[in-house]
Amino acid sequence: MNKPRVSTEPYKGVRDFYPQDQFFQRYLFEHMERVCELYGYEEYNASVLEPAELYRSKTSEEILNEQTYTFQDRGEREVTLRPEMTPTLARMIAARSREIPMPARWYSVPNLFRYERSQRGRLREHWQLNVDLVGAEGVEADAEIIAVAHGILRSLGADERDFEIRVSDRRILDSVYESVGIAKEYAARVTRLLDRRAKIDDFEKQLTEMIKHEEKAAELIAELERITSTKYLEDLRVQLQHMGVSNMVVDTSITRGFDYYTGMIFEIFDTNSKNPRALMGGGRYDNLLSMFGSDPIPAVGFGMGDVTARDFLETHNLLPNYAPATELMICVVEKTASQHAIALAQDLRRQDIAVAVNFSGKRVGDQIRDADKMKIPFVIVVGEKERDSGRYSLKNLESGNETVLSADRIAEHLFSALE
Ligand code: HAM
Repeated sequence: MNKPRVSTEPYKGVRDFYPQDQFFQRYLFEHMERVCELYGYEEYNASVLEPAELYRSKTSEEILNEQTYTFQDRGEREVTLRPEMTPTLARMIAARSREIPMPARWYSVPNLFRYERSQRGRLREHWQLNVDLVGAEGVEADAEIIAVAHGILRSLGADERDFEIRVSDRRILDSVYESVGIAKEYAARVTRLLDRRAKIDDFEKQLTEMIKHEEKAAELIAELERITSTKYLEDLRVQLQHMGVSNMVVDTSITRGFDYYTGMIFEIFDTNSKNPRALMGGGRYDNLLSMFGSDPIPAVGFGMGDVTARDFLETHNLLPNYAPATELMICVVEKTASQHAIALAQDLRRQDIAVAVNFSGKRVGDQIRDADKMKIPFVIVVGEKERDSGRYSLKNLESGNETVLSADRIAEHLFSALE
């Protein structure tokens, strides 16, 4: 009788990370982390589970109603798998705002969950670097955050020509809403509609229906087109140039989907049209922390996702070559030599060499082929001959070169070869 088989497919919209994929994740995260730390940012973390109410008032309606994984736990509490990190960060800072020295510079690389229609650049689980500067206002703080984002792409090998930093300001929208006479109650919804503008065909119609006023809709669109920059954004440009960042453009069609932004907002795009989705997005949110009853604390930050980062690096031929952590495989020829091989491996590990012992019992040729397939750079074959003579042939699988050494010289030789 056939047993029903369990599928090997992962859940829809999430990924398995095989060693080569995990290698890339680590490469990416290490570059992100290093640049954050160069700017004085400290790492933090939290649980993927949050009380659902955390997202009720300030996240975007689209994310809350259509995209969260929310469920009831066994104690009938509403739980959400975090769809973004900013509310968690705000909660953590607000909980200890008196003790934490300000400005606080924090970063984290959480996995986030959004019930999205999976497509290129959009999945249901992604990892997102979050970099936030809390307790500082002004052009220096805003520019620093953008410079970190820029620095990460540069550290991954990208050129300024490969990406574009599109910047705008929520205060532009606020002033346009005021001059056109858009009632406060519509403002957040209009902003979210503007955020989706490029994706919808009948934008003007939807806008008219939303604000129930045809002339105002037309006027709003015209006003937004008229404003090409502001004094603040030009000051920001100068500050960025001072920091070596010169690929900022003002783009007033950037609005960002979240309700909490209050000032400068930005998104970074690949200049190659193969990747139309933003690589990063962020901005200033000066009121979010007050939702916890504390005084408002100014804050600015951004998120950078791993999925779009990988697409970007692939497009620009910047993906790293896979290299496993294992530096050496010891292939065992005869069972009678396996204890000797294990002892040799232990000895090398004490000297900080990463060693795998192959006790599969396969033919030596196959063992070496496996090592090569796994991209392990060196092998030593150990049989009775090596056990009895104490001489080992260290083989470089890439060049084919072999060096005969005594056990006490192996580590030293590997160190210089692997440098
Ligand atoms: P966000 O624009 O929703 O912002 O996400 C930031 C970045 O995360 C996007 O530009 C994209 O690279 C990536 N991303 C978002 N959703 C997905 C997805 N479903 N699949 C793959 N990648 C995705 C925020 O989340 C803000 N909380 C960022 C922030 C931090 N603002 C201030 N501080």
